[in-house]
Amino acid sequence: MACFFRKRIATKLGEALQQSEDAFIQALTAIPPSKKQQTADFKLPVSTLRMNGILPSSGDIQLQAEHLAAQLKQDNVVEQISADRGAINFKINRRLLVQKLLEPFGKGEDEKFGLSSELFHTLKRGTTVVEYSSPNIAKKFHAGHLRSTIIGNFIANLKQSLGNNVIRMNYLGDWGMQFGLLGAGFGQFGCQEKLKKNPLQHLFEVYVQVNKEAEHNEVMKEAARDFFRQLEQHESQALSLWQQFREITVKEYQHVYKRLGVHFDIYSGESFHQNQAQEVVQQLQRGGLLKKSEKGTGVVDLSPDGDMSSVCTVLRSDCTTLYITRDIAAAIDRKEKYQFDEMIYVTDKSQSNHFQQLFQVLMAMGHSWADRCRHVPFGLVQGMKTRTGEVVFLEDVLDEARARMLHNMGQSKTTKEMENPEDTAETVGISALIVQDFKGPLQSDYKFDWDRILQAQGDTGVFLQYTHARLSSLLQRNEGLEAATFDPSVLLEQTSITILQHLLRYDEMLYQSAQDLQPKHLVNFLLKLCHLVASAHRELPVKGSPQHVAQARFRLFSAACSVLASGMRILGITPVDKM
Ligand code: ARG
Repeated sequence: MACFFRKRIATKLGEALQQSEDAFIQALTAIPPSKKQQTADFKLPVSTLRMNGILPSSGDIQLQAEHLAAQLKQDNVVEQISADRGAINFKINRRLLVQKLLEPFGKGEDEKFGLSSELFHTLKRGTTVVEYSSPNIAKKFHAGHLRSTIIGNFIANLKQSLGNNVIRMNYLGDWGMQFGLLGAGFGQFGCQEKLKKNPLQHLFEVYVQVNKEAEHNEVMKEAARDFFRQLEQHESQALSLWQQFREITVKEYQHVYKRLGVHFDIYSGESFHQNQAQEVVQQLQRGGLLKKSEKGTGVVDLSPDGDMSSVCTVLRSDCTTLYITRDIAAAIDRKEKYQFDEMIYVTDKSQSNHFQQLFQVLMAMGHSWADRCRHVPFGLVQGMKTRTGEVVFLEDVLDEARARMLHNMGQSKTTKEMENPEDTAETVGISALIVQDFKGPLQSDYKFDWDRILQAQGDTGVFLQYTHARLSSLLQRNEGLEAATFDPSVLLEQTSITILQHLLRYDEMLYQSAQDLQPKHLVNFLLKLCHLVASAHRELPVKGSPQHVAQARFRLFSAACSVLASGMRILGITPVDKM
């Protein structure tokens, strides 16, 4: 296993420098494979040891590296130790590298690969609330909601695979003036039948119509205000219509999320916290934190000097609460209910300020756990359109991805053999969306382009799926070669060593992902793996090779397939076996 070597080297360092080996586990990094023959597998930059106070921070760094390298003894596992440009390099015995790395894949321990690494022993595990998707009822489901959905799902998957108890939460925009309008306009523009048949679409239509009407019709405006007042006062008729809208919407969303491979443990929403929001205001008042602004609104002063140069508005002048007030209430409520150790919010970056204020107000109220709340912001997507125009519903995007992919799969032989080419097209189309979205830093904006994301070659989700399908079919055709043992000495050529050196980095890459919650590390890791596998397909044929060679290569390919599949699942992609 990857961590076997890491630990071995760390122990060596610990003994030589009389430190606990833990100090070195994280400082060691696996060296990315390169085209030319690699002379080492792990490296340790002396600068890290200086920074951690393990080595004195003065003197020549290369000399320090040489001195330390000379102190460390080589053995039958760590074959070579050398100093190079201020770092110490470690080369693992080649046979052992092959043996240990591929061992777990014959024992049905595939799923744990990389995750049981020593690297994760210092990570605190606990309950993580991940809040994502969070669309607004009757309004558009825009590209930002799609991003939130897939990014949040990735974060939840990652946290879960690292052993956390994850609560997946959808916080619906299910309260506010839009329901006044909807309630008031439904009688005029709505239709129960249409609502049942196509709820999201119908609610949206009604909403658009009422809005138009209310622009010039004072009676409609008043009716909307009146309906919302009734809702706030919990009048049963108004409430039951609202409830119907909400229930029907959730049911419909559940269905679409399922197509995306996403689910939620809890559908919460702004409506849940309207009463608590008023309590929050009272608490702020009692704590002396609520100030009155010149405009008559209720604010919390967040300025460092207490001069109201930066405030968070929590109460309108008519004493109704706001989006942020409900968020404060919601956070406190979640803490009480779930006792979370950390909470992660996923929205576009335009809400960064909102979340900074939210955490600051919580802190000011004495909720020190607010420093374990985190906002993961992402950039905007431009130009996500379907053939019929602008994207309004999530379903449109999924339909479009499926249709286009189906078209690309065309009349190929494998497509014809498929029981359900539509399903495959959908799964692969969704992978394309996800990979495109996850390739760069989340904060960046990007331009959406269907043709580019659906390419079978190049760094796309289609390429990941294609590689997985090819590996699966190779493994299936050669099932007979699966064996409990294999001969590592036939996997010493550069092509296979390169794959193994790449796999050696899996734990590290996941560790970094868990720190910064960016999916790009994993996406790029898997894409690279697929490129390496493509070379291996050419250079390491299974068919026609002597039995023991074929068996060993089979093991190598099954390791690659397994890591690829589990990585894809963390990204939120369902690997296909055929395409
Ligand atoms: N419904 C909001 C929107 O569409 C996103 C909610 C984000 N979560 C939160 N706790 N405020 O913009």
